[in-house]
Amino acid sequence: MLTNHDLEKMVDTNDTWIRERTGIRERRIALPGVYTSTMASAALKEALDAAGMQPGALDMIICGTVTPDMPLPATAAFVQRQIGASGNCPSFDISAACAGFIYGLSIADAFIRTGKIRTAAVIGTEMLTRFMDFEDRNTCVLFGDGAGAVVVTADHDGRGILSTHLFTDGSLTDILQIPGGGSKEPASAETVAQKRHCIQMEGREVFKVAVRYLSEAAETALSTNGKKPEDVQLVAAHQANMRILSAVSKRVSIPIERFALNLESYGNTSSASIPISLDEAVRAGRVNDNDLVLMIALGGGISWGSALIRW
Ligand code: ACO
Repeated sequence: MLTNHDLEKMVDTNDTWIRERTGIRERRIALPGVYTSTMASAALKEALDAAGMQPGALDMIICGTVTPDMPLPATAAFVQRQIGASGNCPSFDISAACAGFIYGLSIADAFIRTGKIRTAAVIGTEMLTRFMDFEDRNTCVLFGDGAGAVVVTADHDGRGILSTHLFTDGSLTDILQIPGGGSKEPASAETVAQKRHCIQMEGREVFKVAVRYLSEAAETALSTNGKKPEDVQLVAAHQANMRILSAVSKRVSIPIERFALNLESYGNTSSASIPISLDEAVRAGRVNDNDLVLMIALGGGISWGSALIRW
């Protein structure tokens, strides 16, 4: 765990600034020897237990992540091996940053609706602290490590995923990046020295589009299904900044009390924040059968989306 007070000793920041500007008090840092895939596998095992299913039942494993174990192969392939799923189960990663979980959910839903598969695991797993410049106060105070998972099946009984909506605005690729380590800037001594493998962000710009696009995506999810804000029992929103969530809550007229919040303890865990907060809400008894659960997320790309679930 890394608290705001710990960060005060590392960069020119303070607990009050971080709490008032973001809502974050502490974040989790994965131990050495733990990777993005090992966190994902642990989360998926818990999801399978909760569903009363065995790994062999999975027809597909999708990992939303921009912090894979390595560029090749996919983190999901490691997960398949670690949990002992079938070797015939296609396993792949989605690169949609903080929106990776909703992108994965949408893909799983489409495969299930067309009858190509029956059961999919969708995981959000992210270890952004290993892509962090701990001398850059603009970014290092925001992020934490984590993973969450769900199992989606064809058995619905009138419940399940009602709709998903995905969006990308490629004109905004510059405001949130890990610029080094790809084909454009292959790893070299120079890219390492310049910290090009660390996350870079224009926070104010991300903030503005986050409020607007997340609110629009929420409204699209509701209007598509003929639902009103008061019909929603739980909002599992990507947790980037408490001020973003408060602004979205006001814009879409869903009280903040209905949001599943864990930003204070975990910071921004990118694609993992929705499944982690959903899991916590379910275990706390906040979600009942037939409740409407709204999911919204936005991240680098800029990519964003929404999903409406009849629980
Ligand atoms: N501690 C103390 N002061 C800081 C820190 C810090 N950690 N970081 C920045 N500051 C200073 C700035 O230098 C600036 O000082 P100045 O006025 O002397 O120039 C001042 O605080 C205000 O900086 P802003 O960038 O305007 O602060 P803002 O209120 O916009 O908050 C923040 C910054 C928290 C990054 C906010 O813009 C934000 O949350 N944006 C969303 C970005 C995000 O969450 N991205 C994650 C990935 S995308 C997603 O998940 C949605």
